[in-house]
Amino acid sequence: MFDGKKILITGGTGSLGQALARRLLKTDVATIRIFSRNENKQVTMESEFHDKRLRFLIGDIRDKERLTTALEDVDVVFHAAALKHVPVIEYNPFESIKTNVIGSQNVIDACLHQNVETAVCIGTDKAVSPLNTYGATKLLMEKLFVTANNYLNRQKHRTKFLAVRYGNVVGSSGSVIPKFIEQIQAKKKITITDPKMTRFSITMEQALDLIMDAASSGKESEIYVPKLKAYSITDVKEALFELLDNTGEEIVGIRPGEKLHEVLINKDEIRCSWDLGNKYMIANPLRDENDIKRSYSNKISKIDKVETYSSDNVERLSKEELKKTITESGLLDAQK
Ligand SMILES: NC(=O)c1ccc[n+]([C@@H]2O[C@H](COP(=O)([O-])OP(=O)(O)OC[C@H]3O[C@@H](n4cnc5c(N)ncnc54)[C@H](OP(=O)(O)O)[C@@H]3O)[C@@H](O)[C@H]2O)c1
Repeated sequence: MFDGKKILITGGTGSLGQALARRLLKTDVATIRIFSRNENKQVTMESEFHDKRLRFLIGDIRDKERLTTALEDVDVVFHAAALKHVPVIEYNPFESIKTNVIGSQNVIDACLHQNVETAVCIGTDKAVSPLNTYGATKLLMEKLFVTANNYLNRQKHRTKFLAVRYGNVVGSSGSVIPKFIEQIQAKKKITITDPKMTRFSITMEQALDLIMDAASSGKESEIYVPKLKAYSITDVKEALFELLDNTGEEIVGIRPGEKLHEVLINKDEIRCSWDLGNKYMIANPLRDENDIKRSYSNKISKIDKVETYSSDNVERLSKEELKKTITESGLLDAQK
């Protein structure tokens, strides 16, 4: 799918963007354009990657003209640029609308203008029945992407717009595991919001598998959701105390905008969701079910349950699995 292709990653210097670029460079891609604002991050990435197929483009997704030029001759777009820190966004909501919503609309317009083949946006569980502004802006990003197909004049435009949706990547900046590791290594008590809190567990490799799979096998207007296990904050505490040291704990309460459990598919979305074996797919409710089945050669079935797909009602990682995930994430080495 990617051999000989020209790819652009918005937010290509971010943690996902870099991991995705690394994975794509293992294929025979023609070029990968990294599109983001900060020149220092681009210079550092260029020297670390040292691959002639990478091109570094300074630009802001709020600037449609710049995006349109950047997308000239591009085949596949991965849209990862976003403002994502919940407390920052609660304090600066207007800025998140400009980047996460209007910026995403610009990506769509620029893809249509340049007749890009496939565009995949990176969504989050926080967009499901959103409680905070970040989630609400990412919900709108998803909606813009999956409905962009509805307005296509098929003779004029060919772009396939798709979305993926997943939860916190283990070890991503601002998430609970690196925070606890930092606290334990500084001999401080770990700060627990609520011992009952649960989160879906996804590694960067699993996220990349989902994204690459969506880009290569996605049909149109779909949201792809991985099948994941979950962990509770208490599970994380116990695993880290065994791996590092027991420095004690302090309960600090749930922060504004935070949920006790995260949901990947809510109970209304379940009605138009399909089980594809290794993942779920939420179809555009405007699409005809028979059409959807035909496009998957009738090999798919509707999700066989009525409750939400939530981090408190899926299988939990065992303590050993969690310890292995943490160890393999490299977080313990990085922070030594
Ligand atoms: N991390 C997770 O656990 C997680 C989970 C689910 C979904 N997601 C989604 O995955 C995507 C990537 O997340 P991440 O963890 O890689 O984030 P990240 O490390 O914060 O990277 C964000 C990237 O976006 C760029 N960016 C921000 N605003 C921009 C703008 N206006 N124009 C152009 N580039 C801009 C940043 O570079 P500059 O600042 O230099 O522009 C950076 O390259 C986001 O859409 C996020 O919502 C993340």
